Amino acid sequence: MKTLAAVLVLAAAATAAVAQPIEARLTVTQDDAGPRIEPTVYGHFVEHAGTGVYGGLWVGPESKIPNTRGWRNDVVQALKRVGVPVMRWPGGCFADDYDWRDGIGDPAKRPVRRNRWWGGVESNRVGTHEFMDFAEQLDSEVYISGNMGSMPPRAAAQWLDYMTADDNTALAEERRRNGRDKPWQVKYFGVGNESFGCGGNMRSEFQADMHNQYATFLWPSKRVASGDGEGDDNRVEVLMQRSVKHMDAITLHYYSIPDNWTKHGEAIGFDAGAWARTLKAALGIDQRINTLSAIMDKHDPAKRVAMYIDEWGTWYDTPKGASSLWQQNSLRDALVAAVSFNVFHAHTDRVKMANIAQMVNVLQAMALTDGPRMVLTPTYYAFDLYRPFKGATPLKAALQAPAFSTGDVELPTVHVSAARAADGKLVLALVNLDPNRPARVSTNLTSAVRGQVLTAAAMDAHNTFQQPQAVVPAPFSAKPGPQGLVLELPPKSVVVVAM
Ligand code: AHR
Repeated sequence: MKTLAAVLVLAAAATAAVAQPIEARLTVTQDDAGPRIEPTVYGHFVEHAGTGVYGGLWVGPESKIPNTRGWRNDVVQALKRVGVPVMRWPGGCFADDYDWRDGIGDPAKRPVRRNRWWGGVESNRVGTHEFMDFAEQLDSEVYISGNMGSMPPRAAAQWLDYMTADDNTALAEERRRNGRDKPWQVKYFGVGNESFGCGGNMRSEFQADMHNQYATFLWPSKRVASGDGEGDDNRVEVLMQRSVKHMDAITLHYYSIPDNWTKHGEAIGFDAGAWARTLKAALGIDQRINTLSAIMDKHDPAKRVAMYIDEWGTWYDTPKGASSLWQQNSLRDALVAAVSFNVFHAHTDRVKMANIAQMVNVLQAMALTDGPRMVLTPTYYAFDLYRPFKGATPLKAALQAPAFSTGDVELPTVHVSAARAADGKLVLALVNLDPNRPARVSTNLTSAVRGQVLTAAAMDAHNTFQQPQAVVPAPFSAKPGPQGLVLELPPKSVVVVAM
């Protein structure tokens, strides 16, 4: 960990011309602002894409890279430190082209298939037993993403039975012969993925009928309908209208990109415009949740059905020569994560799960690996800072802060979340989105606070194998003065404190 002084010196050096801090006022009231923040809002997504599984997580039991039954010890240890409450697997688009039978039994006899969506081949060396072992190593709940796009409902139902049956049925016996006596828990089962696109290009009405058919056979897991991911309100309307009885949750996929789907934009080496556009896109998830929540409220006023944002994060251009969907991860990504968490905390009535896309080496990753080397990303540290929010109850936090503009993009300077943590402490997260100006946040609070700050001198500061500590948290503390508690946020920073 760097010291706060060192971080501030670096940040100040980079913003030598900084004049006045932004003045903001935060008022936290002790009123609950919603149900608790489910720990599963800090969930993950693992897809067989690029080096997201093979190389990044799985190296095989014979590897010289230290591993436990094939899973890399360095990555597992790092993930355990921040906690992985839930993992979605095996896709993504991959899931609707995946036959679970390819991934069980003698590894030497498993078929090699084409990885239709992400290139190369799928060896099937990592299948159900291996993935479940990984989940147990991480003490994570399991969210299986089932195939509705290209397999019959019986295949999905049998996969679930294979994993969870505790009787003398043929599937349970087959699992035992393959080395696992005790059934696994599969709390969540996804009924297809992005059925509007890679999951089968289905019309909403057709998908709703399909969902109902498949979901009939998938209890007692929570049945998750594949919802929107392309800004289509109507799909959610139709699914809620026709399938609400047959689902426990519906999904939203939300990617933040600086430019567009043809040319996403660079992960590093970007300018202030791209910084602002990316954060603007990330903040847009708030409106998306509002819109979809309103549709859900019409059909499910009791709020029985949850919204799972089971893919979210940044998506930049893949550099030439890199594995599929690989991207660097910078301080900007940490801020995207932080404002996203703050938004999720504001919607706990519906948002019960969110899964960062993806865990390692793919899109907005927690860690990057190269052979035996591993480096933790700024996004990892954002997850680390926000740990006290897991299971906390959101509190009302009114913020008065000016906006700032970069070109035609206007952003709030400061973005906050406040909550009462499970241990009774008040936790505050504050994000200063302005890359140039520090923010001075005066509050109605009167106690001292301690926590961590994540910042760096450059907008695209990132950790590399050579410099793994370029963006790491530093201790942060503040004591109340005559005007109460005032928090000084460095430019482009995330601060999480508790009192
Ligand atoms: O996360 C990468 C891909 O993005 C997923 O496979 C798909 O569901 C989404 O389009």
